[in-house]
Amino acid sequence: MISNESSREQWGSKLGFILAAAGSAIGLGNIWKFPYVAGENGGAAFILIYLVCAAIIGLPVLIAEVLIGRTTNRNPVGAFKLLSGSKFWTAVGGMGVIAGFIILSYYAVIAGWSLGYIVEAIKGEFNNFPEPAQAGEHFNSLVGSLPWIIGYFALFMSLTMWFVLSGVQKGIEKGSKIMMPVLFILLIILMVRGLTLDGASEGLEFLLKPDWDHVNAQTVLIALGQAFFTLSLGMGAMLTYGSYMSKKDNLFTSGFQIVILDTAIALIAGIAIFTAVFATGLAPNVGPGLIFHTLPVVFLKMPGGYIFAIVFFILLTIAALTSAISLLEVITAYFVDEKRWSRKKAVYVFGTVTFLIGLPSALSFNVLSDFHLLGLNFFDLADYLSSNILLPLGGMLLSVFVGYVWGFDKALIELKRGAEKIFERYPLFIKLWQLFVKYFAPVLIFLVLLHSIGVF
Ligand code: PFF
Repeated sequence: MISNESSREQWGSKLGFILAAAGSAIGLGNIWKFPYVAGENGGAAFILIYLVCAAIIGLPVLIAEVLIGRTTNRNPVGAFKLLSGSKFWTAVGGMGVIAGFIILSYYAVIAGWSLGYIVEAIKGEFNNFPEPAQAGEHFNSLVGSLPWIIGYFALFMSLTMWFVLSGVQKGIEKGSKIMMPVLFILLIILMVRGLTLDGASEGLEFLLKPDWDHVNAQTVLIALGQAFFTLSLGMGAMLTYGSYMSKKDNLFTSGFQIVILDTAIALIAGIAIFTAVFATGLAPNVGPGLIFHTLPVVFLKMPGGYIFAIVFFILLTIAALTSAISLLEVITAYFVDEKRWSRKKAVYVFGTVTFLIGLPSALSFNVLSDFHLLGLNFFDLADYLSSNILLPLGGMLLSVFVGYVWGFDKALIELKRGAEKIFERYPLFIKLWQLFVKYFAPVLIFLVLLHSIGVF
């Protein structure tokens, strides 16, 4: 068995791990991205394909990733180094740490908007915008203002750093245990509000009745990319959280629970948003602006909208915060484990570095809006590079690693710890996991990657 450094922190409880991992998974990807991507890609048909991707690729890769973390008690670089001893695989772990930097750098910019929108909602600003076009103009003027966009970006990064600074149990676990239930409750309130609006049934129909005419190969690929992003896979966030897990805990069922929670939240967010959008007669397929352009108008038109607007943006910020914490933790764990830095130094240095790397993304909406590289501005480039290339590549390499390099014999010994009953009672699940990790995941992800880089 691989040595476990006794000084390294662990989650205080099994629930602590599940809530922290669900906190990482549930974020802007569920509440901001999932509804608009579903809206653009045919609603229910997209959702069905996404569910299949989450089940047959997301879940097996998630279990594999957490397993590597739990086995090694290391960050992504240390974990691959320990299990393989090879430079190539160590570099794969390093790619995860770099992807973490890049994602956090632009993710915190959008999260900053959400933070800023709490203040806009409290100020009652949305009353001034009865139509999405006006709300859109207001949004553009906010993101065009340097003090606004940089100020909230910095504030959000500081909040993230504060939690990571406090450590695994006292910061991440405690924060998740408070924030996640609040998030569930707020989102359920919003869903009930949406469902009780006149005309909500149209929104439900959009989510439940598949329109297969919209579906093509591209839809499948977008659904798979979404599964990776929303489950925080492919860059070592789940690996790092797994590294604080006890060997006594059942990793197999935890994996199921995390995927179910993440998917449930995306669906609940979808119901809350689309029932409200349809009930107020707005369009579902307006793209990334759905939340910032359309929702203020939805809130204005709905009874009790003032309060629900505030609740919504608080919820979005909490969800983004628990995800950003996991991104910063990957980088921190690397410097603490491998370079023997103190947690404090790692958080201060890399929180600041991430902020600096994120500045060009924040400036993409104003002074750098004309600057394009490969046809994309900085923000889109960071998103494209990380979500469409680095995450799927990381996930593919991780499944190849477990299936062919580390080897299933060793992986199964580790997986069995804490999951003896599952091995006895449901051997089929274990067989399926092997099949998916070894064949389905690498091949399907490879196809996504080829598509991302425009091969077909
Ligand atoms: N899963 C997060 C979301 O859905 O918003 C985003 C994310 C967090 C991606 C952490 C990757 C990651 F490592």
